[in-house]
Amino acid sequence: MSGSVMAKSWGKPTVFKNDRDPMFGNGLVMVEGDEWVRQRHVITPAFNPINLKVMASLMVESATNMLDNWTTFINLGKPEIDAEREIIKTAGEIIAKTSFGVSYKTGQNVLEKLRALQVTLFKSNRFVGVPFSKFFFPKKTLEAKRLGKEIDQLFLSIINDRKNSIKGKTPQDLLGILLQGSPVDSRLGKTLSQQDLVDECKTFFFGGHETTALAITWTLLLLAMNPEWQDQLRDEIREVVKDGEIDVNTLAGLKKMGWVLNEVLRLYPSSPNVQRQAREDIRVDDLTIPNGTNMWIDVVAMHHDPELWGEDVNEFKPERFKGDMYGGCKHKMGYLPFGFGGRMCVGRNLTFMEYKIVLTLILSRFSFTLSPTYTHSPTILLSLRPKYGLPLRFQPL
Ligand code: HEM
Repeated sequence: MSGSVMAKSWGKPTVFKNDRDPMFGNGLVMVEGDEWVRQRHVITPAFNPINLKVMASLMVESATNMLDNWTTFINLGKPEIDAEREIIKTAGEIIAKTSFGVSYKTGQNVLEKLRALQVTLFKSNRFVGVPFSKFFFPKKTLEAKRLGKEIDQLFLSIINDRKNSIKGKTPQDLLGILLQGSPVDSRLGKTLSQQDLVDECKTFFFGGHETTALAITWTLLLLAMNPEWQDQLRDEIREVVKDGEIDVNTLAGLKKMGWVLNEVLRLYPSSPNVQRQAREDIRVDDLTIPNGTNMWIDVVAMHHDPELWGEDVNEFKPERFKGDMYGGCKHKMGYLPFGFGGRMCVGRNLTFMEYKIVLTLILSRFSFTLSPTYTHSPTILLSLRPKYGLPLRFQPL
């Protein structure tokens, strides 16, 4: 069965679609069936190697600004920095500039509202799918609706500004590609509606920064706890990034950094679970999964299962990925940081590039240790994040 047919048999659970509507609407993460095929075709070219290369210099610029600020803090006698907050801010700036061509200020405005919406929707224990549960928490429901509307308005003005500024040639960033009117699969016809565009913007603005930022954040924690890996990565950077100037063509040479990313996403997957709902009766060997069945795939549990990984499952051992993309996992579906099948993460190549650029720049300028004030408390707020941030102490090299 092809990936897309498989993907079409499985939808996203209706209960989550309703619950997360103010955050993702009908954007690519939530959409199903022919509509998903159409949107995926429109969006995929935004992440082709040529477009990614254009983004690289903007990533270097934003990350360098962040590190210059860190130097200022250190010179002022404040070497302790909340790395999570800093990295999320910078990753937000990167997605705003690279995919939407908007300024730092507009980007921050959108991000603050998205963060408020995230906290409103996911902070407390909720009764997702319980009939009439939205009436149990009327304040929360109204707040989420209000924030959702404000975010929609912000994106509408970003879209309209871009439409009005287009004279001839559309920039080939994500927003430009979405606006080109979807020269998609002609069998499926239609173009993206105004609300489709807004939903897609929300999906990518949020999905495009937090997951990557958290991968970098957890990496900094694990490197602070395993300083020998800081040294190994610095040695590799010296070999690969020869004159200190980042050239995207050479990033693939940062092999050990790739193992570290894989191992970080194994131990702390930014997307800690994946859900599906059967849209028809589905046969798996001699088992029939009835239409409408909800499935919850616990990625964190799978990535920490000693039966799949061995007794060292909880240890940080990036070398398990040396020459093995499954890291020695005994089941090829046991390692799923970016999902699976036709619905595999569309932005993963952007993540690989951003991760390597930001980490290269940090490791080239600083060494770091864990602050004694750090409290280890991974928590799920849609994504897997350190509940109390990540205070680190930085020393310039
Ligand atoms: C460390 C970084 C990332 C991780 C761990 C991650 C994880 C995932 C996972 C697990 C899925 C599958 C969800 C499912 O099947 O229900 C997914 C899908 C998706 N991701 Fe990512 N992601 C990352 C980065 C990004 C970035 C940078 C973008 C955008 C720029 C992005 C946009 C999306 C979108 C739009 C989908 C839905 C794809 C579809 O259903 O066709 N992700 N991601």
